Amino acid sequence: MAAKLPIVRTTGELRSTVQRWRGRGLTVALVPTMGSLHDGHVSLVQLARKRAKRTVVSIFVNPTQFGPNEDFSAYPRDEQGDWLKLAGARTDLVYMPAVSEIYPDDFSTRVEVIGLTSGLEGASRPRHFAGVTTVVTKLFLQCLPDIAIFGEKDYQQLLVIRQLVKDLDMPIEVLGGPTMREPDGLAMSSRNAYLDPAARALAPRFHAVLDEVSRDLSQGRPVHEATYLGRDWLEGAGIKVDYLEVRDAANLTPVTEHVTAPSRVLGAVYLGHIRLIDNVAVEPIPGR
Ligand code: PAF
Repeated sequence: MAAKLPIVRTTGELRSTVQRWRGRGLTVALVPTMGSLHDGHVSLVQLARKRAKRTVVSIFVNPTQFGPNEDFSAYPRDEQGDWLKLAGARTDLVYMPAVSEIYPDDFSTRVEVIGLTSGLEGASRPRHFAGVTTVVTKLFLQCLPDIAIFGEKDYQQLLVIRQLVKDLDMPIEVLGGPTMREPDGLAMSSRNAYLDPAARALAPRFHAVLDEVSRDLSQGRPVHEATYLGRDWLEGAGIKVDYLEVRDAANLTPVTEHVTAPSRVLGAVYLGHIRLIDNVAVEPIPGR
């Protein structure tokens, strides 16, 4: 099955395939990933297939978005499993560049979005977004897709990439795909594979608390109270909170009192040494 899946490893091969498609008038969607694929990624490929005639999935574990004490070398990798999933999802092309294809020895450029990247993940992982926007810019320029698709689980990343594309006039439509969840509510993530059985049993509490905070906010509870309670519920269950915040859904401006416009509750927690992120929508209080 995997043998039928076209895999290229160089920019030249990627470009010539995409150019051939373009010559035939076909539109192209890119789904950038770091591999270790799960059903959340498959749903992004399905969205890509609905929105464009050809779908490229890139698999590249990007070293520059990991901090010095983060899990780059331990990040889960599963090439064969990824190929099977992508073949099953009828991906047209997989791009798997080596590190030297993306970052040759004399690589000296950094692409950085400011403002949107300063809080939430940016506060906890200071170099993370510069690594993301640099690699995404490279992938966009290498592939030149019409559409690019990212998961809403990384909500801040999605808005940062939209800003990047807008600021640099990239002719690419950025689409967000909804977060896929396990039956118990845990957001699908490659990092879930690291959770030991006790942490896995506790993990769904994270999403349940985000939902409770969202419900409280929509019923008029002020932000400081709702987030205080949320933290308390999580810490009480033995989940260490990195952040739990309410932000405007369109531009991530902090919401400080009541929710009067579409917003998100965003959180990052530690289960043991595994860090998970998630977010849920909050509908504004009717009549406010
Ligand atoms: O979301 C991810 O998997 C990564 O941050 C991305 C967008 C593929 C860039 O490396």
